[in-house]
Amino acid sequence: MSTHTQATSEIGFRKEKHLSICADPSRFSVEGNSTGFEGVHFIHDALPEIGEDEIDLKTEFLGQTVAAPIFISCMTGGSEKGFFANRELAKAAQEKGYAVGMGSIRILFDSPELFEHFHLKALAPDVPILANIGGSQIRDMEHEKLFELVKKLEVDSLVVHLNPGQELFQPEGDRDFRGIKDSIRRLCDGAPVPIIVKETGFGIRPQRVQNLLDSGVAYVDVAGAGGTNWVTVEAHRVPEDDRGEAEEFAHWGIPTAVLLACLKQHTGKILASGGVRTGLDVAKSIALGAHSAGLALPLIREAVSGGAEAVVRYLDRLENTLRSVLILTASRSPKELGKSKIWLDPGFASMMASFQEAEREIEDTGHPI
Ligand SMILES: Cc1cc2nc3c(=O)[nH]c(=O)nc-3n(C[C@H](O)[C@H](O)[C@H](O)COP(=O)(O)O)c2cc1C
Repeated sequence: MSTHTQATSEIGFRKEKHLSICADPSRFSVEGNSTGFEGVHFIHDALPEIGEDEIDLKTEFLGQTVAAPIFISCMTGGSEKGFFANRELAKAAQEKGYAVGMGSIRILFDSPELFEHFHLKALAPDVPILANIGGSQIRDMEHEKLFELVKKLEVDSLVVHLNPGQELFQPEGDRDFRGIKDSIRRLCDGAPVPIIVKETGFGIRPQRVQNLLDSGVAYVDVAGAGGTNWVTVEAHRVPEDDRGEAEEFAHWGIPTAVLLACLKQHTGKILASGGVRTGLDVAKSIALGAHSAGLALPLIREAVSGGAEAVVRYLDRLENTLRSVLILTASRSPKELGKSKIWLDPGFASMMASFQEAEREIEDTGHPI
């Protein structure tokens, strides 16, 4: 099969530009202010009475056992750099035994010759692979065609991303966000693999999480604020004089840790991402009830600069920290860590209470799903 490695289309060029911006922290600052994780603390146990050999990080995910509750978030493919990054991320995932996502497969409908960019199963046959597509695309396309592609890619889940903020700041972006909820429900009814729904860094509010789970979504990845801000990424693509509006959204979104804390009732169905950077962030996500935690920006930077080896080193550090937190909180597994071993800063607790109260009061004016 031919594998055109150039960015062959408008989408490919855009993806390549996004990747160049995100991978170069010396030139582009793309991260938001705070995830809220700094307001969450563990209850240290000086007498944990467990040995390191008892720690077991293994976690069930999408019908498979992964080595730890950590995954590589959906990112790229469709350009030369994107293909390289996908390959390195997939190799690292296979070595670590972690689930790995890919960027939107929308481009494959116009450029089927790029199939290999997204066929991560070939490089990571023993871990869950996550395909990706936008909410607007599933609304506007025939689901049967999408299901055929999903089967051909041999993935274990299809992740639908919601990104109205980013779309509004893309000159060529979507301006109509009607009908997406209904198309997610239809997708869940017919899909050959479990559906995950994620944001891309502004978060999904709790009532919407409930709606999505009620409609048959297997996991919701909150992808909250505090990490990569996609309005800021888009702003770097336009001349400096035109960035004013985007700058007003530098702190937009619901902080990841606040969302997790408000979603404890859905323990096991929530994936944590958006600004997860350290092993401590991963541990706090699990302690707040997340099934597992995902990272995008730090891993793409490692993949581009140092390949799979660098990605593995970064993931090793996360895993080591997670192990230490388990020992210091007398937890033998991530499940045990999820049993209220944290305390919250008063500032965080009051921010959470205020958010919860305000969110509950929003009348649901949309069409229920
Ligand atoms: C280079 C890059 C490309 C991305 N492309 C996609 C994409 O195609 N689909 C998607 O759902 N999310 C995409 N994302 C968003 C991430 O999956 C994630 O939700 C977001 O960046 C927040 O996580 P972070 O703070 O760890 O970066 C991309 C992120 C990066 C850094």
